[in-house]
Amino acid sequence: MIVVTGATGHLGRLVVEALAQKVPTDQIVAAVRTPEKAADLAALGVQVRVADYEQPATLTEAFAGAEKVLLVSSSEVGRRTAQHAAAVQAAKAVGVTHLVYTSILGADTATISLAPEHKATEEIIRDSGIPFTFLRNSWYTENYEQSIAQALATGAILGSAGEGKLGGVPRADYAGAAVEVLTGTGHENKVYELAADQAWSYADLAEAVARISGKPVAYQNVPASQHRDILIGAGLPEFVADMLVDADRAIADGELASGSGDLSALLGRPTTTLDDAVTALLKNLG
Ligand SMILES: NC(=O)c1ccc[n+]([C@@H]2O[C@H](COP(=O)([O-])OP(=O)(O)OC[C@H]3O[C@@H](n4cnc5c(N)ncnc54)[C@H](OP(=O)(O)O)[C@@H]3O)[C@@H](O)[C@H]2O)c1
Repeated sequence: MIVVTGATGHLGRLVVEALAQKVPTDQIVAAVRTPEKAADLAALGVQVRVADYEQPATLTEAFAGAEKVLLVSSSEVGRRTAQHAAAVQAAKAVGVTHLVYTSILGADTATISLAPEHKATEEIIRDSGIPFTFLRNSWYTENYEQSIAQALATGAILGSAGEGKLGGVPRADYAGAAVEVLTGTGHENKVYELAADQAWSYADLAEAVARISGKPVAYQNVPASQHRDILIGAGLPEFVADMLVDADRAIADGELASGSGDLSALLGRPTTTLDDAVTALLKNLG
């Protein structure tokens, strides 16, 4: 039995859908906080079970009978270490034999503000003694959908990452890697640094958007403090603006790129190109 947490989220949903193509659906559990959002998953024939990281009893119930659990990192930044610890404890209690965790690129060395919760979770998982795999994901290209929408209207993709490059790919690539780890062999106690084969800069992103959309778009780099002011001026909460500016700083420092080749190796194909990712995002934007 394979359990996927956060299954109503963007990534978890993609994993469950892809798993359902590969293994009998009665062997798949979509573990969700909000069952009302899981009708489409139930329609696939997978079991839907309630699993709220804040309610440990739901986690042991959701993981019962599982050999493998994919712990999709929670979206509740700041609460995640305790939430993930509860999930690890539940996995241990029910005898899970392989715990797969979606972490962040270079979790143990990265200085990006999002890294400490991932680093702490990885340590908790190692300490649990459960065989593990860490899927250390770079950025999703989908993170730039809003920036691209704005750029089509204003002509500028704005950021403070300078010429830094990142290894962002669509979520589906990370989902594919997770499916390989959950269904393949030999992935226990491995740490995978998952990123695009070809890292790209915001200037590369702007160039691709311009070329593929046929509209004039260029990258406009601004100092971090100005970037923060602009994001707050656009209505983002301060902590979100801080997180985004810090992420651009990390991109400038190369923290979100990796030459490991791990992602294409797991996928058995090259990672999705920036051009293909941008084409999909533009299609989404209509
Ligand atoms: N690499 C990147 O670029 C990037 C970007 C954003 C996030 N992330 C991380 O990657 C994870 C997956 O990405 P995503 O795009 O799928 O995020 P998402 O669409 O926001 O999904 C997050 C999932 O976490 C679930 N969740 C939140 N709090 C929970 C709780 N207390 N108990 C149980 N489940 C809870 C949500 O449940 P509900 O459906 O009930 O809300 C949702 O299913 C995120 O949660 C975040 O840790 C990575």
